[in-house]
Amino acid sequence: METKEKDDWTFKGADTRQLTHCYHDYPARMIPQIAAKLLDMFGKNAKLLFDPYCGTGTSLVEAKIRGINSIGTDLNPLACLIAKAKTTIPNLKELNKQISEFRKFSLTSKSLAFSSLPKIEGIKNLEFWFKPEVIEKLARLKNFINEIEDDSSRLFFQIAFSETVRESSNTRNNEFKLFRYKPEKLKNFSPDVFGIMISKLLRNRRGLGEFARIIDGDATKSRVKIYNFNSVIEIPEEYVSPSSVDIIITSPPYGDSRTTVAYGQYSRLSAAWLDMKEPEKTDRKLMGGQKAKKINKFPSAELNKTIDIIRQKDENRTLEVIAFYNDLFDSISNVSKVVKSGGYACYVIANRKVKNTLLPTDAAIRDFFRHFGFEHIDTFKRSIPNKRMALRNSPSNISGKIDNTMMQEFIVVMKKIA
Ligand SMILES: C[S@@+](CC[C@H](N)C(=O)[O-])C[C@H]1O[C@@H](n2cnc3c(N)ncnc32)[C@H](O)[C@@H]1O
Repeated sequence: METKEKDDWTFKGADTRQLTHCYHDYPARMIPQIAAKLLDMFGKNAKLLFDPYCGTGTSLVEAKIRGINSIGTDLNPLACLIAKAKTTIPNLKELNKQISEFRKFSLTSKSLAFSSLPKIEGIKNLEFWFKPEVIEKLARLKNFINEIEDDSSRLFFQIAFSETVRESSNTRNNEFKLFRYKPEKLKNFSPDVFGIMISKLLRNRRGLGEFARIIDGDATKSRVKIYNFNSVIEIPEEYVSPSSVDIIITSPPYGDSRTTVAYGQYSRLSAAWLDMKEPEKTDRKLMGGQKAKKINKFPSAELNKTIDIIRQKDENRTLEVIAFYNDLFDSISNVSKVVKSGGYACYVIANRKVKNTLLPTDAAIRDFFRHFGFEHIDTFKRSIPNKRMALRNSPSNISGKIDNTMMQEFIVVMKKIA
């Protein structure tokens, strides 16, 4: 690879929504070009990729394209569902049949009225988040989808449905947190629920077509397994064997969900409509979700120094910060055991500010991996050209406030030597 090309991680103007990457929006998605480039640089002979925070499965899709087996895990059930859909190629004939059935259904079913509105477990006041006519239409879509017998076609429809739920809800669409439209906007808000669903289905069908062509119809060429275990606690050996992974490509959360990205909150409405259990509990289980009880040190001088600065400003906030790095440290401890000697760990991260102090998460990741027998290969820097960043809400958690320090991402590459 030419040096210039090797150093350019911006991918300005690149199509980040090609193939099945177009399926579903998600906060802080990794752009596929990063996973692709890392695989081309460090995964030439890789047989197995692992992503301990796989989100919507960007790195799993890129592994599949290259015939590499992959394992992903995420605690957010909606993310797992999207990742599964993005890496599954349904029987295209069957899927096309279902799409045309749905088009017919949408013409005939629109005007029928329910005698009473359905209840959706997991959303207490449904009518706060959806207009009654929207609830009715979503319920019809849900019934149609539940009757699709073919599992992979149904999965494909569920993903389009999830985005339809979000776009036809009373929530402001350009926010990842749940904010309801103002009353004056709501008055004239009349989403075309069936129209949104059809446009998602057709967009995703196009992406799937490209993906299937690249895989060359051989969907079994590589295996993809998606789990919901928490690598902070353990990586079960029956899912990922010790010293079995050639390359990790992952983007962990940038901080705890409460003050950075509320993945659970983002997913809540869709998850409830898709009958996922207790969607509101997700955020507490994610990294840094439980405040630490005491302040401890880490094997990273840079991180310790920064934590001391924050401590002088706010001891309580320091415990939240510590909780996140404790989890990151435990997760890296477990992750480092499943990587083969000579294997790579590539972490894509942005550094966040707390109390106006920049936390060196890239350095912490480097130092934690060193502690577990890895050498530092490089940290590539990347300016983020697209400002629809998940960290809009950070550091103040004020809606719409953008923190400029988040405009840079770091790609930390480590190699296992021990
Ligand atoms: C930055 S996102 C990953 C985005 C992903 N690379 C993509 O392209 O969609 C971080 C993910 O970590 C997940 N997560 C947070 N804490 C976790 C944990 N302890 N175990 C597993 N997943 C976790 C969140 O649910 C979220 O999906």
